[in-house]
Amino acid sequence: MSAPMLEVEALTLRFRTPSGLVNVLDNVGFTLQAGETLGLVGESGSGKSVTALALAGLLDAQAQVQVQARRLRFQGRDLLNSQGEPDAAAWQGVRGRRIGFVFQSPRRALHPLRTIGDQLQQVLQVHRGLKAAPARQEALAWIERVGLSDPARRFKAYAHELSGGQCQRVMIALALAGEPELLIADEPTTGLDVSTQALVLDLIAELASARRLAMLLITHDLALAAQRCARIAVMHAGQLVETLPSARLREGAAHIYTRQLLRATPQSASTLDALRSVDGTLPDLTRVDLPACRFAERCEKSDARCRSQAAPWTRMGAQHALACWHPVLETQRVGLR
Ligand SMILES: Nc1ncnc2c1ncn2[C@@H]1O[C@H](COP(=O)(O)OP(=O)(O)O)[C@@H](O)[C@H]1O
Ligand SMILES: [Mg+2]
Repeated sequence: MSAPMLEVEALTLRFRTPSGLVNVLDNVGFTLQAGETLGLVGESGSGKSVTALALAGLLDAQAQVQVQARRLRFQGRDLLNSQGEPDAAAWQGVRGRRIGFVFQSPRRALHPLRTIGDQLQQVLQVHRGLKAAPARQEALAWIERVGLSDPARRFKAYAHELSGGQCQRVMIALALAGEPELLIADEPTTGLDVSTQALVLDLIAELASARRLAMLLITHDLALAAQRCARIAVMHAGQLVETLPSARLREGAAHIYTRQLLRATPQSASTLDALRSVDGTLPDLTRVDLPACRFAERCEKSDARCRSQAAPWTRMGAQHALACWHPVLETQRVGLR
């Protein structure tokens, strides 16, 4: 296999707050190959968005956050300084140009006082080096490509004149107009109505496959991630616990947390499954005595070792690995879903 497009190793992230340190990300690591789609899944508050922000190099400038990693490379390019922190200079030319981002709340992400066309045109001039007139033509083409009618009129529109779904289409155009090789989309459809969600996800999938774009799709919705991505990474309280191919999820998930998330994921909206949720709550990340496995206190199998010693990553099969001292074995999965 060729060198991965994105390599993340031992990423840690903490916030300094008046009530103490918040230990958000702990030893997060994963890789992404060119053209691959990976779904990053976890409950709300588990650290998915800060992972995206750290990968965008958008947290490095804030004094109240400490980001460190053992390795952070994109297309072979080192994005860390000698202290293992994200390097602002190395990020120039990568963010926006080679990695495109779509964040939640598209309306807030768009500039309120500049037209849609103006914002698109600027991306095309900055990231693609186009002159004003061709950038304008290309901006119109992008407005059309993301399925907005009457491009000339939309070009002159402001964010407040568009619906949430239309704003998200504009965000997708902005993220992809620089022709990136990786798209990081953080809950790109949360807050949109169900039919618009599907249309926006179809649009992302269509544009991504036409461009052989790699994608990190971040969502709290395991079913959605499994449907849209080839591989899933499950995050619990700032720790990755299991990565596996989506096709193996139902039969092969070996981490108890992944299995609980699966059980809490309705197979159809009409079943009673929709009422189930994962037992317990995420641990308080400001605690100084967080267990080594942050799932230990919610886990029926945990013991003293789980609380004191982080489990190493264990390979379970092709592209399947987990960090757990007590994986659910194949024989024990009979009778479970
Ligand atoms: N600016 C901040 N200061 C302090 N804590 C933060 C900040 N941003 C996020 N957090 C904390 O980091 C954790 C993860 O947040 P987030 O990445 O937004 O979760 P998710 O996207 O998975 O819902 C939460 O416990 C949240 O309270
Ligand atoms: Mg989030």
